[in-house]
Amino acid sequence: MLTANSLTFSRFLLSLPGMLAGRRYQRRKLGRELATLLQVEESRIMLYDSGRAAFAALLQLHGVGPGDEVIVPAFTCVVVPNQVPPSGATLRFVDIERGSLGYDWQLLDMHIRRHTRVVVVPHNFGIACEVPTWLREKHRQVRFVDDAAHGFASRCAGQWLGSYHDGAFFSFEYSKNLTGGIGGFALLPAGAYLPQPALPEASCLDQWRLLATLKAHILSARWPLPGRIAMAAVRRLGLVYRSGDHEVVDGAPHPARELPLLSAVLLRAQLARLPATLAHKQRLVARYQQALAAVPGIRQWHADTDCHWVRYPFALPFHVVDKARLARELGAACGLNIGVWFDDVIHPAGSFRHGYHTGAAPHAEELAATVFNLPVNINLAVDAALERKLQRLQQALHSLLQQQEAAR
Ligand SMILES: Cc1ncc(COP(=O)(O)O)c(C=O)c1O
Repeated sequence: MLTANSLTFSRFLLSLPGMLAGRRYQRRKLGRELATLLQVEESRIMLYDSGRAAFAALLQLHGVGPGDEVIVPAFTCVVVPNQVPPSGATLRFVDIERGSLGYDWQLLDMHIRRHTRVVVVPHNFGIACEVPTWLREKHRQVRFVDDAAHGFASRCAGQWLGSYHDGAFFSFEYSKNLTGGIGGFALLPAGAYLPQPALPEASCLDQWRLLATLKAHILSARWPLPGRIAMAAVRRLGLVYRSGDHEVVDGAPHPARELPLLSAVLLRAQLARLPATLAHKQRLVARYQQALAAVPGIRQWHADTDCHWVRYPFALPFHVVDKARLARELGAACGLNIGVWFDDVIHPAGSFRHGYHTGAAPHAEELAATVFNLPVNINLAVDAALERKLQRLQQALHSLLQQQEAAR
């Protein structure tokens, strides 16, 4: 999958000398810059090595414990529910809506019970939403925590995503809006305080693995062949950095660590260019919207213009059994990197189920079988080459839809 959405190869290289300033300095600067951007006090920003660790910190902040229930959207990444069982609380999945990729507020209302303590609010692909006031007032014991992993620097009616509920967690993993390789932060609600514990640092070996993996990702975004060669070499050397099987397959929680120094310098370089990056991504998305609108039967989602899309989703009008294969075929036909998020109600397919029963979230299951996505990446120029790729994508989608029609 094409990642490093806001990082160019030159910026990657130019930011590395910043590591000489040391991790404390770089983390402090990053925290300050995030606070300035989001117009919040610096004490509300808490950096971690991942979005999942930031989520666990928010569960702690809200005093979630045995006897409580945490509601998680049924269209999420497995590492989110993984963080709940260690708190002693129980988990409940609630379906999402086809039209918004977020909750149906009436359905959520029906699922909230006396012991529901936290509701995780999704903002899939970066589409920011706000919990209606009537729902918040009806359930005053509930804290609404934003899963803003896909939506760093998205806005909802002019407000920064994450700043208007009861806290938010963001991700800086490879594939997210800004990438640190890994990383994330919690945005605490106004007035909240969470002591900063002394967390372990990522090991030196892990930072080398991050560096090697990230370099291969960035090369792939710009130059596919050298990128593939670099990735194969990184794999060969056992240097790929990714979530462990114990988290994905066994559902183990993630122990929090500090944000690595490497991640901090890369993130600061991307933050400095954020307005230009957002403008470029908006141009790209506008082209996708136009191109997909010309293929009848393809579903798209509306979002405000100040949405920071992590990838651009579209859905086919029929269920696809092997999404990964179709994504490869469409990608080969058009030359664009087609993604499959989410390929299951609890992504990735084959990951730990946390007691989820098939059929419990029909809308999310339908979305998992129909939604694909396009890269929203500054390494992708809005030029004549993109036009040709989009024309080929249109042709590939047209013939796919015709084949389906004929097979009925
Ligand atoms: C919707 C969503 N929430 C949370 C996360 C977790 O973020 P991280 O990988 O930084 O822990 C992900 C991860 O990929 C995600 O897709």
